[in-house]
Amino acid sequence: MTETTASAPTESVNLDETLVEIRGLKKHFNDSDGILTNFKLQTDEGFPVTYQPDKVRAVDGVDLTIKKGETLGLVGESGCGKSTLVRTILHLLEPTDGEINFKGKDLASLSKGELRNLRQDMQMIFQDPQSSLNPRMRVGRIVEEPMEAHGLLDKERRQRRAKYLLEKVGLDSSHYNRYPHAFSGGQRQRVNLARALSVNPDFIVCDEPVSSLDVSIQAQVLNTMKELQEEFGLTYLFIAHDLSVIRYISDRVAVMYLGQIAEIGDKEAIFDNPQHPYTKALLDSVPIPNPHRRGERGVLKGDVPSPINPPTGCRFRTRCPELIAPEKFDLAETEWDRILTFMRSVDRREFTFDSRENTVERFFDGGVPAGEAGTVVGDALDSLESEEWDEATELLTNAFAEQSVCATSEPQPYTQSRTNGTMHKTACHHYRN
Ligand SMILES: Nc1ncnc2c1ncn2[C@@H]1O[C@H](COP(=O)(O)OP(=O)(O)O)[C@@H](O)[C@H]1O
Ligand code: SF4
Ligand SMILES: [Mg+2]
Repeated sequence: MTETTASAPTESVNLDETLVEIRGLKKHFNDSDGILTNFKLQTDEGFPVTYQPDKVRAVDGVDLTIKKGETLGLVGESGCGKSTLVRTILHLLEPTDGEINFKGKDLASLSKGELRNLRQDMQMIFQDPQSSLNPRMRVGRIVEEPMEAHGLLDKERRQRRAKYLLEKVGLDSSHYNRYPHAFSGGQRQRVNLARALSVNPDFIVCDEPVSSLDVSIQAQVLNTMKELQEEFGLTYLFIAHDLSVIRYISDRVAVMYLGQIAEIGDKEAIFDNPQHPYTKALLDSVPIPNPHRRGERGVLKGDVPSPINPPTGCRFRTRCPELIAPEKFDLAETEWDRILTFMRSVDRREFTFDSRENTVERFFDGGVPAGEAGTVVGDALDSLESEEWDEATELLTNAFAEQSVCATSEPQPYTQSRTNGTMHKTACHHYRN
């Protein structure tokens, strides 16, 4: 590698070319801290009993395609598996199952040495620029280190390249001899960029790279990243929890929920025409008025369930404001909405039960639904009258939530393309044909 090839645009980017392809990717952890691992007990009868620790299903069946030269934004609440997904894609974590193809090569089929060589093409930038830079190393050495590790260039040319890259990322070649503590957060993230670029990668995974920076600094760093992408023909996989950052940087967006992709599509499709109830709820939780908003949408309530025991069927169903009514009740839309609100409020103990009448008034506008559904609601009210909240929750959940198609069948990513040319895939039963 020479500076000339590195400084010129490395290649003309063909956006139709696939760089990364992931199929059925899973990453399960055995437990949270590694204390409980598989062990066998010998019972008195002499039968061995195997203790199976709980599995944390951090990533649980992800399909993704990342095209050369694009930025794929990855969003989702904390704990949804974003960091685990990207670390598994880079093989920093061993996948539990599934396939990762990078530049047409199946990473699992590579030897350690081949994987190490390929690593040069895949770099990562982390959230905290403070802790990812060695405080005892001068910035120039920090940038040179990956080149040295991969045996690139001789010492003098590595120095020249480091200085050249410091300028490219918006610093100054005179910063070469300074230590990280002399830099601001934004500048440190620029050092990280130079370091990642030093080995001339194709693919840079950015895990919340600007989340710890001031908003004004974020914009500057993001702009630099966009410029570098253009100049060096880079492909980004970019995690951020801030939707405005995702909107600014991404070409396409993947929305992740509890180890799976809920929706993926062109940026415009996701932001202007979100389909998945989770995406809608995420967008609604942003406190900026959205002129494209049509009608009422549910606000995101409750926590992300544990990935140790994720809900059956659709993983979002325990919080979904659009949960599908069980067919057997044949309920009108408003009736179902009321039952759903009642069921969730009982489950979350969101109100004080003073009297049956007031509760019916509050949730059912005076009258419970007729038929079998009404009987269940009546039974739940009986339980509440005797202060049996758990029992009421169980009655309602078993009769309604667990009978929904959302609980009994796992939604697949259904594809929709729009007349304006945008397309998305949505894993929600509402979009089955
Ligand atoms: N090494 C690990 N061992 C056990 N559980 C883990 C480990 N790393 C992450 N997890 C769990 O996996 C889930 C996903 O975590 P993470 O990928 O960090 O999510 P995100 O980046 O979206 O916040 C969380 O429940 C987290 O606690
Ligand atoms: S499948 Fe059901 S629970 Fe899941 S997002 Fe769609 S409507 Fe909601
Ligand atoms: Mg994370």
